[in-house]
Amino acid sequence: MCGIVGYVGPRRVVPILLEGLRRLEYRGYDSAGLVYHHQGQLQRFRAKGKLVNLEEVVDEHIGVASGTGIGHTRWATHGAPTKDNAHPHTDCSGELVVVHNGIIENYSSLRSELTAKGHVFSSETDTEVLAHLIEEHLEDDLVAAVRAALAEVEGSYAVGVLWAREPELLVAARNQSPLVMGVGEEACFIASDIPALLPYTREVIFLDDMELAVLEKGRYTISRVDDAQLLDKAVTTIDWNAAMAEKAGFRHFMLKEIFEQPQAILNTVSGRIIPDTGLVELPEIGLDEADIRQLERISLVACGTSWHAALVAKYWLEKWVGIPVEVDIASEFRYRHLLLNERVLTIAISQSGETADTLAGIRRASSLGAKVLTICNVVGSTMTREADGVIYTHAGPEIGVASTKAFTSQLAALFLFTLYLGQVRGTMDSALRREYGSGLIALCGVIEAELPRLQKEIRALIEKYYTARDFLFVGRGVNFPIALEGALKLKEISYIHAEGYAAGELKHGPIALIDDDMPVLGLVPRDGVYQKTVSNLEEIKARQGRLVLIGTGGDQHLAGLSEDVLYLPEVLEDLNPLLYTIPAQLLSYEIAHRRGCDVDQPRNLAKSVTVE
Ligand code: F6R
Repeated sequence: MCGIVGYVGPRRVVPILLEGLRRLEYRGYDSAGLVYHHQGQLQRFRAKGKLVNLEEVVDEHIGVASGTGIGHTRWATHGAPTKDNAHPHTDCSGELVVVHNGIIENYSSLRSELTAKGHVFSSETDTEVLAHLIEEHLEDDLVAAVRAALAEVEGSYAVGVLWAREPELLVAARNQSPLVMGVGEEACFIASDIPALLPYTREVIFLDDMELAVLEKGRYTISRVDDAQLLDKAVTTIDWNAAMAEKAGFRHFMLKEIFEQPQAILNTVSGRIIPDTGLVELPEIGLDEADIRQLERISLVACGTSWHAALVAKYWLEKWVGIPVEVDIASEFRYRHLLLNERVLTIAISQSGETADTLAGIRRASSLGAKVLTICNVVGSTMTREADGVIYTHAGPEIGVASTKAFTSQLAALFLFTLYLGQVRGTMDSALRREYGSGLIALCGVIEAELPRLQKEIRALIEKYYTARDFLFVGRGVNFPIALEGALKLKEISYIHAEGYAAGELKHGPIALIDDDMPVLGLVPRDGVYQKTVSNLEEIKARQGRLVLIGTGGDQHLAGLSEDVLYLPEVLEDLNPLLYTIPAQLLSYEIAHRRGCDVDQPRNLAKSVTVE
């Protein structure tokens, strides 16, 4: 949802900005731009479309300037994805430039007022208002002018501001959009997300809402936007490294991240469960055992793929802990009439920890007295700082826009949490926890072993299906959410229309869609609802539906239903969602790649949705 970067220091600025933007391009790729100081002037370059277009434009200037600059990669909200609407935006004089991630909600009235005062606008964006507003307040103190302008602004922002007359000064601020500062020996950085900083520093400071940073060569100050008194902010050392955010020989980040899943799941589980005793430890969850025993309900809140993880967890928690669980899409949760209190635990599930709707959801839950836990992948992200407790998924940076390893790591964390609740509330004995804990760890080895074979089989299989216009995914029970997730993966990266259904629900309407043109992917492990699922698949076959099945090795019945069956080893029934996700991801990936789609940067999408 737009990425911003900034640098103040002694090094060549353009390569640093471009590298930062490359690492943030997953946040938006409608246009890109950068600006830097050179010989008393600001040099600005912008290009429509992906970063590669900007790189072509700035090519000959790469080695020119050292010093200070800011850059932006855009996911369009206000104004079409054109060059004119690309950031950085300037004031009337062209001496002041702004990059922005967020939405200035009162931009329309501000624009009218500024136009009446003689300001001339050259874009349709909300951001440009900010440049003119700062200009309006600017005499000789850039920091004061930024403070005054932000006082008039409603909405969300992470901003970086430069002024032609202050070549060694970068002013940054945030409110409801992520912004992290990097601290190097002689240099300071800003970025919307940590991967942009990793080649240069792992020492970071997470800015909080309504904070303003003044960056100069090798030094910085932080205060509140509305109060100049300096704040003492903690510096955090990040344990990710730059290589983790590279493709490492894979064709796409998504494929690399699919193959990283065994390790990501293992990292999420390791140290939190003792396989020999079945003892689960989650010290960072911010709830003591008495709190946990008193819980009456759990409310899971998330968006997109993370919401699918929540749907799976409902099956686990209700079955093993016997606690009622409700699952909400965050954009609905935040505006619905909520019945929460201190005995309802709200759990926000989020890869990024910055998703605007999920964040708003936990803020509402907190305001109603509920305890809030977040299951999150990004250390120091806003959700992790605002929640009462955290379970980090240790998936490492996820760069592909379509979430893969973050999802299975969320499932692993949610399964651990189920075991933990079962332990504390006495609903799962140690033998059961041992069995499931060991099963979860063993599953990593199973996935690792199966991945290459699955990829090979799926590559061959998709030749029959990659031209399909529509696809259905069906599953039952704990695998129903995996049908939803499979359909989401396929539609977002291949642009094939796909829907996920509970297999038993088809006959209530969607079965009307079935004909010999409609591939249906069935998730059909030998589990407690196996016979029921098979009956539903028979109903599809009877109507000439083209079945692709994923089932348990040795299940000959499936071969009678379809010639396209992918077999998986038998694992503990409750862990099937983690295993059955893998072929669904690979199928989507291979189809999208075969169709020539841009797998890592699908159209219209961006990772980390920081607007509502
Ligand atoms: C789909 C996908 C999205 C995210 C959703 C929530 O592949 O990645 O649906 O799952 O935008 O994002 P987080 O988990 O960062 O809150």
